[in-house]
Amino acid sequence: MDNRPIGFLDSGVGGLTVVKELMRQLPHEEIVYIGDSARAPYGPRSREQIREFTWELVQFLLKKEVKMIVFACNTATAVVWEEVKEALEIPVLGVILPGASAAIQATKNGRIGVIGTPMTIQSDIYREKITNLAPQMVVESLSCPRFVPLVESGEIKGSLSKKVVYETLAPFSGSGIDTLVLGCTHYPLLRPIIQHVVGKEVTLIDSGAECIRDVSVLLNYFEINHERGKFPLKHRFYTTASANQFQKIAEEWLGQAIQVEQVTL
Ligand code: DGL
Repeated sequence: MDNRPIGFLDSGVGGLTVVKELMRQLPHEEIVYIGDSARAPYGPRSREQIREFTWELVQFLLKKEVKMIVFACNTATAVVWEEVKEALEIPVLGVILPGASAAIQATKNGRIGVIGTPMTIQSDIYREKITNLAPQMVVESLSCPRFVPLVESGEIKGSLSKKVVYETLAPFSGSGIDTLVLGCTHYPLLRPIIQHVVGKEVTLIDSGAECIRDVSVLLNYFEINHERGKFPLKHRFYTTASANQFQKIAEEWLGQAIQVEQVTL
């Protein structure tokens, strides 16, 4: 047993889609979350900047004495996850491998689409991981630079989101993909629109949600689960931008009241 919290990091509110799945699958675990909304989006930034910012988020979580860190951000996973994983003694999980495996499992025709931030798509990491596991797969990748700013501004249901998603995903029409990886943790907040645009016959893969299965496996393997029902859980959420804006998006998405504090890194 280990009653320390699990740490989650993201460039902003996107990692909340991963947290929601943790709360559903592992409701006894306590959470510390840091979202760097003041500097989001990370996707168009240089590798060096993403590396520097992500290390700051990691250091913040280490000071909170977490027992495990989840990179609830594809962009940070693509650039710096391997390095952080090697450097720390606690388990560090990323979202890309679980998303890649889930896509391989889901596809029937072997044609997989991947959408992500400019850095995630430029790194080509999904294609690499998917074809390393299953070389016969065909992967079509598309960068969606306008999605993260939409979500960070809380614009997830209106006509602007519909227009942007429709325009951005147009290249997939006629591509024959039967599976689409949401390769950015912000995108599940736009899921109903994305599903509508690509059609209901395309299976959407939420890479962040998929990684919670791995969290569960590691907790069991290292025997570091939180004691059940022993303490009232005190989740803590931190953001580098407005606590009000974060709280509004988070409470609507998670369906519960949470405490948010603004911090500087
Ligand atoms: N949620 C991050 C991801 O999964 C978004 C990165 C960004 O801020 O561009 O990639």
